[in-house]
Order: sequence, then C-alpha cells, then structure tokens
Amino acid sequence: IEVTFVEACGKRITVQAAEGATLMQIARDNDVEGIRGECGGSLACATCHGYVEDTFLPEVGGAGEEESEMLDFAACEVKPSSRLCCQIAVRPALNGMVVHLPEAQI
Ligand code: FES
Repeated sequence: IEVTFVEACGKRITVQAAEGATLMQIARDNDVEGIRGECGGSLACATCHGYVEDTFLPEVGGAGEEESEMLDFAACEVKPSSRLCCQIAVRPALNGMVVHLPEAQI
C-alpha cells in the first residue's frame, strides 16, 4: 500500500507499507522527520499529527472523540483534515493516500 508523506518543507516521501500498519509506525519506520509519535500510539501525546489530503478524507474518516480531545494538545493548527497518525491503519482502499505534516509536533 503506497503512502506519501509531505514534510512541512515540501519534501515528499513515498513508501510502501503493509496492510494494518498505522501511519505513525510507517512514518517512523521510514525516518519521516515530521512525525514523532512519542507515546507509541496510545493516544496520549498528539505528536503524530497529520493532515489527510482531501481526496482521501471521506475514506479515512474524521477523528473520534478521544482523538479529538488529544488533538487539542497538538502543537500546530488543527484543521478539519487533522488526524493523529497512530489512529489510522492503512488498508488497500487507502493506497496512494497523501498525508501532509505540520511544521512542529511539540
Ligand atoms: Fe501518541 Fe499518536 S503517537 S497520540
């Protein structure tokens, strides 16, 4: 499953990921600098903030209640496309998705 991360500086990083892996894990495995994921994916840090590109938003869906509360702690502006990357597991329907990363995670 192909995923592209776009760093705040504009650098695009396209990687292949296995189904079921979260965007946070995928970013960390590929040394994508714009993602930190300090809590390891337990919805307790908001350092895995990303903006899902519009075309994939309906398929990805919005943040749940707990995730929205955690997004309040994100370092950068929260937009309608904001999600925490540890809460999105990739699946075939998300092949080709693009995630833009904020300027800072802390
Ligand atoms: Fe901590 Fe996603 S890694 S909330």
